Amino acid sequence: MSCTVVIGAQWGDEGKAKMIDYYSSDADIIVRYQGGANAGHTVVVGGKKYVFHLIPSGILHPGKICVLGNGVVLDPLQMVDEMDKLIEQGIDIDYRIFISDAAHLILPYHKALDSALEEMRAENKIGTTGRGIGPCYADKCFRTGIRVGDLYDEKYLEEKITQTLKIKNLQLEKLHGRDPYSVDEIMDICLQFKARVEKMIINTAFYLNEESDKGKKIILEGAQGFGLDIDHGTYPFVTSSNPTVGGALLGTGINNFQVNRVVGIAKAYITRVGEGPFPTEDFTESGNTIREKGHEYGATTGRPRRCGWFDVELLKQAKRICGFTEIALIKLDILSGFKKIKVATGYQYEGKKIEMFPSFMLDKVKPVYTELDGWDEDISACKKYEDLPEKARNYIDFLEEKIGIRIAIIGVGPGREDTIIRN
Ligand code: GDP
Ligand code: IMO
Ligand code: MG
Repeated sequence: MSCTVVIGAQWGDEGKAKMIDYYSSDADIIVRYQGGANAGHTVVVGGKKYVFHLIPSGILHPGKICVLGNGVVLDPLQMVDEMDKLIEQGIDIDYRIFISDAAHLILPYHKALDSALEEMRAENKIGTTGRGIGPCYADKCFRTGIRVGDLYDEKYLEEKITQTLKIKNLQLEKLHGRDPYSVDEIMDICLQFKARVEKMIINTAFYLNEESDKGKKIILEGAQGFGLDIDHGTYPFVTSSNPTVGGALLGTGINNFQVNRVVGIAKAYITRVGEGPFPTEDFTESGNTIREKGHEYGATTGRPRRCGWFDVELLKQAKRICGFTEIALIKLDILSGFKKIKVATGYQYEGKKIEMFPSFMLDKVKPVYTELDGWDEDISACKKYEDLPEKARNYIDFLEEKIGIRIAIIGVGPGREDTIIRN
C-alpha cells in the first residue's frame, strides 16, 4: 500500500505538476483522476518547459507508467496532439500510457456548447476554459456520454453518436445559432483516436488495484484545486468535477485504505483564473507585481491570473475536506522583495469575525490581515530550510502554525531541483 494523492489546495495552478514530477522519481505509476484539458500542468526540467493538459506530469521520468483514470474527461484530439509533441521532443512514450475504458470522451460539440453557454450567460459568466468540460460531465450525469470503451463496437458507437447529435445539433442550431456536426465527422475523430490508442485502453481500476497489491507506488495527480471543486468549492464558479480527495478515489477506483499520503499544494500567495469570489485578491500595484514576477498567466488559455494574498481559512477548509498529511508551499521565491507580506488569518462578515470558510457569500466577507516583514534576498538558490533568510522562515512558520499542518516542502523556483525538503 503506497498511494500518494497530490491535490491543489487553492483555485488551481498551485504548482502541482512540478511537485508530481518531483515525486515521480520515486513512484511507479502516475494517474490523472479528474478534469480534462482544462488543466495546464507545467514541468521544467533542465531549463526546458513542458506543459501537459491531459497526460500525467510523471511522463518525463523514463519507464514510469502514466494512466488516465475513469474520472477524466478525455479530448481525443488534444490527447493525440500531446502524445505527438512528446514524441517530437524525444520522450519515449511507448507502452507507458494506459487509458480507462470508462473515461468519457470530449467531442467537438462539447467544446462548442461550452463556449455557446458562456456567451449566453452574458453578465454571469463562469469564465470556463472552453475545453468542453461542463457539457461532457453533464452528459455523463445524463447517462448519454460516449465512453472510451464504446470505441470497440463501431455499430453501437455510430448509433450512439447519431442519437446524441440529434439533440446536440438541435441545441447548437436552434438555441445558439451555431453550426451542426455530422455523424461522419464525429465518427472520424473517434475511429482515428481508436486506431492510435487501441492498445492503451484497459480497465484501469482493475489494473491499479492489482499493481497496488503488488506493492507498486502510485501517485494520483489532481487537476484544478479545492476551491474549484463542484461540491466544496465556490459554486457556481467551479469546474465540473471533484479535485478533492473523494474525486481521487472515484476517478481511479482505488480505495481509501490504499492511500497513505495526501499532499496539499499551496502557492505562497494565491491566484485564480476566471470568475468567482476571491477575498484576498489584490487590485493594487502589489497584485500586478506578483503577476509579473510570478509569470501568472494561464498555461491553458493564456489569461492573466488574478493575484492576491495567502488565505488561511481557505487552506484550513481544504485540509478538512482532503485530510492533507502535509503541505508543499510553492513559489516562495516570488515573494522576495516585498517589504510587507499580507496573510488573511480570518474573515469578517457584517463586522463580525467568522471562524469558517462559508459555503455561500464568500464574495461578501472581508479578510482580516496580519502583515509580516518581507525579505530582500533572492532565495532561488537555497537548498535547505536553514539557507532561507530568517524572515522567509518566519513566514513559513507563521503559516504552518495558523493552518495547523506541516509545511514539508518549499518551492523556490520552477525547476525540479528548486525544491527544499524539510527534515
Ligand atoms: P499546476 O496547474 O498546479 O500544475 O501549476 P501551473 O503549471 O499551471 O502553474 C505553476 C507555474 O509556476 C508554472 O509556470 C511552474 O513552472 C511554476 N513554478 C512551479 N513551482 C515554482 C516555484 O517554486 N517557483 C517559481 N518561481 N515557479 C514555480
Ligand atoms: P490546473 O489543473 C486554474 C477554472 C476556469 C474557470 C473554472 C471552470 O492547471 O490547476 P472549466 O473549463 O473547468 O469548466 O472552468 O475553473 N479552471 C482552472 N483554473 N487552473 C486549472 O487547472 C483550471 N481548470 C479550470 O478558469 O474559472
Ligand atoms: Mg495549471
